[in-house]
Amino acid sequence: MERTMRTPIIAGNWKLNKTISESVALTTALKTLVVDETDVEIIVAPPFTALAAVNDVIVNSNIHLAAQDVYSEDSGAFTGEVSAPMLKDVGCGYVIIGHSERRQYFGETNESVNQKAKAALAHDLKPIICVGEQLEEREAGRTEAVIEDHVTGGIVGLSDTELLSCVIAYEPVWAIGTGKTATPDQAQEVHNFIRGLLTKAYAVEVASQVCIQYGGSVKPENATELMSQPDVDGALVGGASLEAESFAQIVKMAISS
Ligand code: PGA
Repeated sequence: MERTMRTPIIAGNWKLNKTISESVALTTALKTLVVDETDVEIIVAPPFTALAAVNDVIVNSNIHLAAQDVYSEDSGAFTGEVSAPMLKDVGCGYVIIGHSERRQYFGETNESVNQKAKAALAHDLKPIICVGEQLEEREAGRTEAVIEDHVTGGIVGLSDTELLSCVIAYEPVWAIGTGKTATPDQAQEVHNFIRGLLTKAYAVEVASQVCIQYGGSVKPENATELMSQPDVDGALVGGASLEAESFAQIVKMAISS
């Protein structure tokens, strides 16, 4: 299937940054800069505390709201957690799941990623499932094994329709926040491998429609080249999403590449 069948998705993962007022200022500036962009899905993922205020800014705009995590249960005695119905209630359409920082610092596993993805899907929230190898794993020639483990573990048990609501984000851990980006060829190689994994488990018509984003030090300087690869369907942007100007530039590159 032609790449043009997949709308590119540019998502900004703000991580542990921005107060409510800073979030509102950033989103307000971004909204003006990207107001005319229609052929790309634009997403911002502020911290939980700013979701409601950011939602007020983007309501009726072309910007969508994501959370950075979700818990697998809908309610109950789970102190500190936030559930899919709560995220839906605050205006989220997407949720990032299994980011490498959560895998590394907060004990996220393929199993919890899968449970969270199912909880999100049950409430009409689209999961952005993050996968990616660490530097030592790449150097040991284990990139494909790790990616296969993350992808198949994350999507186990999902129906065709559920998979079609998922986004996969390939984020090599060694490229996140380091300024070291995967080369366009390295990114394409892994994206193509992920597409192949999806094709093994699902019909080609389904697998070919799933959007696979690249993440890891994406900046205006490298975004066009990365996104011009046939299986790179947009970007998950950390650092460069914290300023409206650089994030808007990347959004515009998604269309032109
Ligand atoms: P970065 O982060 O763009 O700052 O490397 C990307 C991510 O972690 O999603």
